[in-house]
Amino acid sequence: MLAAWRLWQRAVTFIPLVRSQTLNPPLTMAAAASPKRLRVYSSAAGDCDSANGAASGKRVGTHNGSFHCDEALGCFLIRLTSQFAGADVVRTRDPQILDTLDAVLDVGGVYDHSQHRYDHHQKGFNEVFGHGFNTKLSSAGLVYKHFGKEIIAKELEVSEDHEDVHQLYLAIYKSFVEALDAIDNGINQYDTDQSPKFVNNTHLSSRVGRLNPDWTDPDQSPEKENAAFQQAMMLAGGEFMESVRLHVKSWLPARSIVLECLWTRGKVDPSEEIMVLDRFCPWKLLLFELEEKLKTDPLTKYVLYQDERSKSWRVQAVSVAPDRFESRKALPEKWRGLRDDELSNVTGIPGCVFVHMSGFIGGNKTFEGALEMARAALKC
Ligand SMILES: *[C@@H]1O[C@H](CO)[C@@H](O)[C@H](O)[C@H]1NC(C)=O
Ligand SMILES: *[C@@H]1O[C@H](CO)[C@@H](O)[C@H](O)[C@H]1NC(C)=O
Ligand SMILES: *[C@@H]1O[C@H](CO)[C@@H](O)[C@H](O)[C@H]1NC(C)=O
Ligand SMILES: *[C@@H]1O[C@H](CO)[C@@H](O)[C@H](O)[C@H]1NC(C)=O
Repeated sequence: MLAAWRLWQRAVTFIPLVRSQTLNPPLTMAAAASPKRLRVYSSAAGDCDSANGAASGKRVGTHNGSFHCDEALGCFLIRLTSQFAGADVVRTRDPQILDTLDAVLDVGGVYDHSQHRYDHHQKGFNEVFGHGFNTKLSSAGLVYKHFGKEIIAKELEVSEDHEDVHQLYLAIYKSFVEALDAIDNGINQYDTDQSPKFVNNTHLSSRVGRLNPDWTDPDQSPEKENAAFQQAMMLAGGEFMESVRLHVKSWLPARSIVLECLWTRGKVDPSEEIMVLDRFCPWKLLLFELEEKLKTDPLTKYVLYQDERSKSWRVQAVSVAPDRFESRKALPEKWRGLRDDELSNVTGIPGCVFVHMSGFIGGNKTFEGALEMARAALKC
């Protein structure tokens, strides 16, 4: 986690954009000490020469004009790699200038990793992340696809071929990057011919979009726009890093717990349909992912876990899919909506606490009671 914090802090110690260093920017200690301060500028003649102060001497290009979340995140990500650490960001559509840059994102009409060209607008572009993900990539997805493992491995301070790096690489694509790819390529979240029931303007891509200078703003200069782009990089990059940190801190350990409990479920009950979560963690999505990966058969019907507050045990029916409420095998109908003695009478199991009206969850005061309930429910 220390490594995580260090990378996080390094990633956010940008200073506000200034075109000339003589403007006396409010340098913080960290930013002053960091060789990786960010410079974003446009390509007007002469700018390129003034760029030579960049720490790595590298320059990463993207288009000028109105910006989107994908190239803001892409530029942030590529600067976290060893090769492009501290690179300047040059915003232009001038092909002659783009040709001289070390990497180009979201403009230029070329995708060629060997040349570090990452555009996705050209005809015939159909690159996807792979590993079961079929959403067309944006410039952020392209940079993540090629450098994501390096960035995550640095965060964990392990080598790129470490198993955790691979798992995080997939999980962070799924939970963070894929949505940006889809939104940028105009792909809807659901198949539907009806208009949405409400407008969603709070997701990251909308918030980045709103950082563009407003049409009412008297200052429409490239400097203003570049400063706004720098803010967009910080916003998108900051949320990306937060997602990485959360996955390292919470998702990875939860995955080990669920994996272990899934492996050992045969010891709980020979049916292999009852899993005991010996330490509570968010388990639902992970259970679906791991069952699919391990081709688990039979599928888990009930998960038992201890309620942290009451110390009683829960028996929860697993739903048919992560986004569905319907259970694979709901608790028996005649138990539903009953409590305490009345429920214990019907189940024949002492100490029962409740069964929800829909049969997706129930409770007993002890582990043994909850296990009894699950076993009895399997036989119904
Ligand atoms: C992009 O930069 C060029 C050259 O500096 C300029 O002519 C053009 O108007 C800019 N485009 C937008 C959309 O700002
Ligand atoms: C809005 O979209 C974002 C990103 O797709 C999603 O995380 C969020 O839950 C959505 N909000 C609502 C209210 O649907
Ligand atoms: C449980 O069953 C017993 C014996 O049949 C009965 O006396 C008692 O009233 C029942 N309790 C409830 C809460 O239904
Ligand atoms: C359910 O919990 C109660 C209270 O702790 C306990 O007396 C009872 O034995 C449990 N049921 C089973 C089957 O163990």
